[in-house]
Amino acid sequence: MTTASAAATFAVFNESYAIAGAISGAELASLKASTYQSILYLCPDADGDTGCANAADDEEGKALFTAQITAHVAFNMKDPLFSSPLPSSDDAVAKAAHLRASIGFYAELDAAFASMTTQPVLVMCKSNRRAGAVVAAREAIRRGLSAAEMMQDSTDRGLTFIGTPAHAAWASACVDFFYNLSHRQHYPHPCPAVAAAIADVQTPPSSSSAPPRFLFRQLFDKESSTYTYLIVESASREGLLIDPVIELAQRDAALVKELGVTLKYILNTHVHADHVTGSGLLKILLADASSSGPLSCIAAVSGAACDLPLEPYQTLSLGGHQVLTCLPTPGHTQGCMSFLFYHKHLPLEEWKCFTGDALLIRGCGRTDFQGGSSSSLYVSAHTQILSLPESVALYPAHDYKGNTSTTVAEELQYNPRFGKNLGSYIHLMANLNLPPPAKLALALPRNMNCGAEVIEAASSDSAGGSSSSSAAASAPTPPVASPASSSSSGS
Ligand SMILES: [Fe+2]
Repeated sequence: MTTASAAATFAVFNESYAIAGAISGAELASLKASTYQSILYLCPDADGDTGCANAADDEEGKALFTAQITAHVAFNMKDPLFSSPLPSSDDAVAKAAHLRASIGFYAELDAAFASMTTQPVLVMCKSNRRAGAVVAAREAIRRGLSAAEMMQDSTDRGLTFIGTPAHAAWASACVDFFYNLSHRQHYPHPCPAVAAAIADVQTPPSSSSAPPRFLFRQLFDKESSTYTYLIVESASREGLLIDPVIELAQRDAALVKELGVTLKYILNTHVHADHVTGSGLLKILLADASSSGPLSCIAAVSGAACDLPLEPYQTLSLGGHQVLTCLPTPGHTQGCMSFLFYHKHLPLEEWKCFTGDALLIRGCGRTDFQGGSSSSLYVSAHTQILSLPESVALYPAHDYKGNTSTTVAEELQYNPRFGKNLGSYIHLMANLNLPPPAKLALALPRNMNCGAEVIEAASSDSAGGSSSSSAAASAPTPPVASPASSSSSGS
């Protein structure tokens, strides 16, 4: 460990990085002027204060300290992520949540690194332990090391973070995650029920009862290049619809009726920005004397009003069979969900994951509005979708080139975005420079209500003596928009 300044905690890591602990404003200014083009400050709280500055600094010194900072990330050891590491816990859900939080935080750091275009970088915190963990993890991931190799390398360098269990657990979790990705070692799926089903696929079923059978349809909207999906349990005729489009609600309702389906759920993978959901109109078209129609559903975290707000890993049943699990896949928008259709008596080739805009065929959704986050989407895609068995089929919300589906194996091999390392992916997504979706201003407010304004319109018409079908026919129709962009980035 090389001490090259009056601050005893300064150490050169390699030609790209150095780490430092509490350091005076003057020393930091000197290091920046002489060598370190960028300074990443791991501040002790979200306020980005000067908590890591040398305690002896006066106000002028602290101001000088702050002026040197290129980027900062709150790295608070009181955060449950660091105060309660769970690497040895038997609680699979807690472990999966902890891992996801660990990788999510690493992704946040990677985004900060991506924002600093000049090297070398000085990473600093109060003691240099957090800085050491960050640089050691980042370099190990860049070099393709395992967690064990990273820890040995850090021991050889005399980095002090290895003596702090929380720091070591976080860095190891991140490094192992990316090591497993690069070695195509399947990471256990973070949903315990899905992980158990993968381990317990039985075809043919061990019991004497006949396995459930399902009908599947993929429907298409030419204007927005949106796919709508229908799944029906054959014996009960109970079904669900994913991502309907308002202009084609009549088509979807007619199909549901022709097939004798009782539609239980209308699912939306997210608050779409490029088209208005058909949820509200379909509820009217499919309501009858015995039922108020199917339930509109969307992730609770999206904040959109609906009949059934969905929580992560919630399951939905058709015909008494649990067939759909809601996977949280934020990143394209904060409230994105993917829906995994599976049953342990179906071969893996018949499992289907409806990915919305989180993963498109050889692409992914944009991440530049609606709470989007490139780092979050990268983590979502790899932990929730690409950790499924390789033969599982993936069905996106859109395709602009005529493709209909893909598989986990194909996307692992050919997806040009998720095949990149995290830093390159963040950089690429930050430079797509896409125009806004043509229907953004129209679609967002209506989709935040799951298209329910048509129901209100129908109610007022009914009060005036109109039938629900006439209300549906007169439901608000979006203005004609220019053809959807041929972008592969979804909206
Ligand atoms: Fe979208």
